[in-house]
Amino acid sequence: MEHLIQMEQICMYFGGVHAVENMNLHLAEKEILGIIGPNGSGKSTLINVLTGIYAPTSGHVLFGGEDITGRQSYEIAAKGISRTFQNLRIFRAMTVCENVMTGRHCKVRAKFVDILLRTAKYRSQEREALKKADELLEFVGLSHMKNEFAGSMSYGQQKRLEVARALASEPKVCLFDEPAAGMNSAEANEMMDLIRAVQKDRGLAIILIEHNMEAMMNTAERIIVMDAGHKAAEGTPKEIQRNQKVIQIYLGEEEPCC
Ligand SMILES: Nc1ncnc2c1ncn2[C@@H]1O[C@H](COP(=O)(O)OP(=O)(O)OP(=O)(O)O)[C@@H](O)[C@H]1O
Ligand SMILES: [Mg+2]
Repeated sequence: MEHLIQMEQICMYFGGVHAVENMNLHLAEKEILGIIGPNGSGKSTLINVLTGIYAPTSGHVLFGGEDITGRQSYEIAAKGISRTFQNLRIFRAMTVCENVMTGRHCKVRAKFVDILLRTAKYRSQEREALKKADELLEFVGLSHMKNEFAGSMSYGQQKRLEVARALASEPKVCLFDEPAAGMNSAEANEMMDLIRAVQKDRGLAIILIEHNMEAMMNTAERIIVMDAGHKAAEGTPKEIQRNQKVIQIYLGEEEPCC
């Protein structure tokens, strides 16, 4: 079966730092794949390679069977892979609605002259972007803040705004890098509900990186565990919870065997 995403033998080295080493990963349509692992184990680097922020040192990335290794981020976004970042990247001085609209830039077909002269083509694209932003703000529960400055929102609301912005480009896959970081458990649960809705209601495939184990175990259908750049384990949440290697990575010791 052809997978939506396939990463084959990916290595990403920064000088002597082997951030990712021989990683293989596949993602099926409408699947939620979780990636866990200790700090510095290579999780963000792996999705930075997938989204074209870094060209891998070696290995291949396929999207829908097409080799997209080393392509620029904007090309990969336009093909249908979107993401949120580990650190907030909200434009604080722009309104909530404007922030969502920036997520659509890779879909805009208007030329500079269209924008300058506000041609019919440009105005129709702008109307479409506004309609889409309204619908997405409704989806993430932020409609009431549409015209507020993004910087005036709570941290949890800003994280939800990032989800809306990532969806604005109408992607097929969305990558969430620690969407619940810094949240209390009620906020984290709401964020996971939202991520499940992105899969169920909008039909997207998802890669989720998250340190909150409870959230991860309740949300991911399959989990990859990374350790020092390598894949240490892979399986269902149940299998991962009782995997001795994983327990050792997290606790630094093995459970007694007898
Ligand atoms: N641009 C870079 N230049 C040099 N080293 C880097 C770069 N990006 C990441 N690294 C290194 O690669 C390793 C993996 O980092 P990465 O950010 O992928 O880990 P992570 O699993 O996402 O960690 P965390 O859970 O803390 O977010 C670390 O040793 C990190 O310092
Ligand atoms: Mg990270």
